[in-house]
Amino acid sequence: MLQQQRSQPVRPATIDAAEDPVPSRPMLQVRNIQSSYRRVPAIRDVSLHLGTGEIVALVGGNGNGKSTTLRAIAGLNALDGGSITFKGKELSAVPAHERVKRGLVLVPEGRRLFPRLTVEQNLMLGGFTTADAAKREQTLQFAYDTFTVLGERRRQQAGTLSGGEQQMLAMCRGLMSQPDLLMLDEPSWGVAPKLVTRIFETIQLIRSRGITVLLVEQNVHRALEIADRGYVIQTGRMVMEGSGQDLLGSDEVRQAYLGM
Ligand SMILES: Nc1ncnc2c1ncn2[C@@H]1O[C@H](COP(=O)(O)OP(=O)(O)O)[C@@H](O)[C@H]1O
Ligand SMILES: [Mg+2]
Repeated sequence: MLQQQRSQPVRPATIDAAEDPVPSRPMLQVRNIQSSYRRVPAIRDVSLHLGTGEIVALVGGNGNGKSTTLRAIAGLNALDGGSITFKGKELSAVPAHERVKRGLVLVPEGRRLFPRLTVEQNLMLGGFTTADAAKREQTLQFAYDTFTVLGERRRQQAGTLSGGEQQMLAMCRGLMSQPDLLMLDEPSWGVAPKLVTRIFETIQLIRSRGITVLLVEQNVHRALEIADRGYVIQTGRMVMEGSGQDLLGSDEVRQAYLGM
């Protein structure tokens, strides 16, 4: 069922749990957050939640606050209001690098690789928060097995990879931090059409490894197709929530918010 998002504060999940769509112990709970750039509000009222093992898509047109939402959750943008709880703990006083250690990892818009470092060096930079060398090695092996091109080019500069290959590298670098929740900001951006399918398959593969995924995409159709649930954001406010199928099937959503 589609739900129009209300702007009142979200009730705590423990009250009336039978009726509340919020699971009793979500992995991530974002309540009415606001964030701005030099006092200009970029997100005004954003609430969302993710249960363990879900793929949730956050969609909406350009400039509506998707990246700001992810950056605020990652601790890279300060909050003006609202709260974020991850695995039951409030995050407001927790710096960005500590959020990564706790398993909350962002693969940023535009990938942000180090183009002059090798593929392997980029991966190892994602792994530096992981003390467990065996886990690091295991994830590295997963990356090379899944994307043979990364293994073949591990000693080449990351900047020599194609857009799609760089995106795969960026996602694998995120995995090297051993996330419980991986946030992906526009993973299909700048990727050749024949590799876009691979990106979406990879997201499903990541989930099958038990990792929860919050996905921001311009490619709304494909994102909602693989998502369990989706949220629509417009001018910094959450305006709609529903299953991927329901959102895709709604003419109102498609026309008013997604320009489809
Ligand atoms: N670094 C920045 N400095 C100033 N304004 C910004 C910056 N980044 C984003 N904004 C503004 O914040 C709003 C939301 O942007 P953003 O979160 O990047 O949207 P989206 O990811 O949905 O395209 C927009 O109005 C955008 O112009
Ligand atoms: Mg963005």
